[in-house]
Amino acid sequence: MKTYFLLSLLALLAIPASAARMAMPADTPKSYEAECASCHMAYPPGLLTQKNWQNIMSGLDKHFGTDASLDAKTESEITQWLLKNAATKQKYAAFAPENRITKTAWFIRKHDEVRAEVWKRAGVKSPANCAACHTDAAKGIFNEDNIRIPAK
Ligand code: HEC
Ligand code: HEC
Repeated sequence: MKTYFLLSLLALLAIPASAARMAMPADTPKSYEAECASCHMAYPPGLLTQKNWQNIMSGLDKHFGTDASLDAKTESEITQWLLKNAATKQKYAAFAPENRITKTAWFIRKHDEVRAEVWKRAGVKSPANCAACHTDAAKGIFNEDNIRIPAK
């Protein structure tokens, strides 16, 4: 009984510890939620490198086919915060092609079981639409237990 209790305690402690690496940092500025989560979810800064975030923030007027420009003050606040919290963990620290999380080697590997047809379902639309399948994506939680793939 005592061992069981200890083990469950360890399990409880282990989940937040691993999930926290991708979670939204506690110092997330309001401007990030306001400006970078209106067209898509607020991507956790730890999923791209500093160079990728720099590229994204210096090209907001031509942002994946849309204009996401900001005033200089907001742009600078968000940029500094993104750079401070960018990927450091080896796994995510490789430069992402096209500045897309969805083009990284780890993303492609982790999703190799998702069939091409699934990405195109109306309820998914795009691999960048993380929250379509990861029910707690907004909190930066991507583990297997929190996935529900839309049936269509
Ligand atoms: C006007 C709408 C709009 C705003 C505002 C916006 N984005 Fe985007 N963003 C897009 C679109 C459209 C895509 C491409 C989505 C797709 O491929 O499905 C995108 C893609 C991205 C991607 C790549 C996703 C992938 O494929 O891995 C990142 C990273 C990103 N945006 C970051 C930001 C940041 C940071 C901000 C705030 C400074 C921001 N976005 C604001 C429209 C927007
Ligand atoms: C079509 C549904 C779908 C979309 C959209 C999607 N994923 Fe996933 N994701 C999955 C599935 C399925 C797995 C594999 C889970 C497994 O290994 O059992 C997965 C695995 C992952 C993992 C590994 C989890 C682990 O515990 O090893 C991460 C991290 C992840 N996704 C992040 C993302 C991010 C970030 C986005 C958006 C940029 C995204 N996913 C978009 C379905 C999706």
